[in-house]
Amino acid sequence: MEKLVSLCKRKGFIFQSSTIYGGINGCWDFGPLGVELKRNLKEHWWYTFVLSRDDMVGLDASIIMHPDVWVASGHVEEFHDILVDCKSCKKRFRQDHLETERCPECGGELSEPRAFNSMLRTKMGVSEDTAVETYLRPETCQSIFVDFKDICSSTRVKIPFGIAQIGKSFRNEVNPRNFIFRSREFEQMEIEFFCREEEETQCFDRWQQDIWSWYLSLGLREEKLRWYEHPKESLAHYSKRTVDVEYEFPFGWGELQGLANRGVYDLTQHSKHSGKDLSFFDAEKNERYYPTVIEPSAGADRTTLAVLCDAYAEDSVNNETRVVMRLHPKLAPIKAAVLPLVKKDGLAEIAVDLEKKLRLLFTTYYDHAGAIGRRYRRMDEVGTPYCICVDHQTKEDGTVTVRDRDTTEQVRVPMTELGAYILKRVSIRPVCAE
Ligand code: GAP
Repeated sequence: MEKLVSLCKRKGFIFQSSTIYGGINGCWDFGPLGVELKRNLKEHWWYTFVLSRDDMVGLDASIIMHPDVWVASGHVEEFHDILVDCKSCKKRFRQDHLETERCPECGGELSEPRAFNSMLRTKMGVSEDTAVETYLRPETCQSIFVDFKDICSSTRVKIPFGIAQIGKSFRNEVNPRNFIFRSREFEQMEIEFFCREEEETQCFDRWQQDIWSWYLSLGLREEKLRWYEHPKESLAHYSKRTVDVEYEFPFGWGELQGLANRGVYDLTQHSKHSGKDLSFFDAEKNERYYPTVIEPSAGADRTTLAVLCDAYAEDSVNNETRVVMRLHPKLAPIKAAVLPLVKKDGLAEIAVDLEKKLRLLFTTYYDHAGAIGRRYRRMDEVGTPYCICVDHQTKEDGTVTVRDRDTTEQVRVPMTELGAYILKRVSIRPVCAE
């Protein structure tokens, strides 16, 4: 983990937030490479689960909602961590994270457990006396339930169908830790899939398969993934069944995504609290009912961390150790680097011109500083799948070499075919470029 965290900072993937002021615990910033990686990951998710399917629609709702939403959802009552304080060193711990009855830091005596609500509060309104106290959402899914009626009446959705959303969530985590694994501000990628109760098992099973396939399509090693079934007694207040996909991080197994059967809990709760009927009229069955909800809920930051951990490798090329990020080409922040073999002889001009054209198709990087081997290493370290080298032969026949990051093998490709050659290997969507 230490090597990865250091690489992420050094190369501009992830920094701690507000470092010039000493940093702020549990908040992270995605730098120039990190933002591209996470955008690619989210786009891949959106393409797989929304755009390429005919039973899904999307939503982008506000983070701040009416405070009653959180009463109806059960978060005001139920979204608590049970905390204990050490009477000696004054440190605070989540009781369910403790393995002994004494303080894990100093061995001191612990206080009686107390409930602590994990939602982050905020106030909205310009004057103190009229400002409304509400929360930053702790999960994105509630707006999907709250907007259910508007979405159904503005589209022609038919059961079974799903609504997807990607967005920020906030939790006042007691112990943010393990880099971006557990933070206070993070992004979720959630789907609420509405089906008939009699289809719930079939639907749940299908989602389990689809989720698993998605993780494999990111290039994650299958042996690093597993399912965890929550025992009945530890299910969240809304859940009839939950299974998690876990990844084996360097610090141990950790949850990437939960798949829950939320039954009819949320739609009935919001109907009751808002006084608006959120049942669904099924025209095909000529029947009105509350659909059952199957919810795949993934963390974008945690998945990014799993992708980074899985990609990090050290190997040997020409008897030299190199660090290489074996990121899936679809996720890699830079798709291709354009490197003139030498700066002189007109090669730099050709490379600059080529890079300008290619950057309209995918993310590129131009570099002429230092020996070509060192430039290849720099690109390996940030996971760039292809390095294009403009050499003296380019001037004669218009071809360049394309070096594969993982095998380091090189092939000659005519510059006129280069865009299509790379695009079809790095694009999230299928391309019809050829
Ligand atoms: N709507 C259901 C829900 O929010 P959850 O298991 O609490 O379920 C879903 O959260 C996913 O959100 C988790 O699997 C994880 O990937 C991500 N997540 C939750 N808390 C997080 C945190 N503090 N930091 C980073 N990601 C988090």
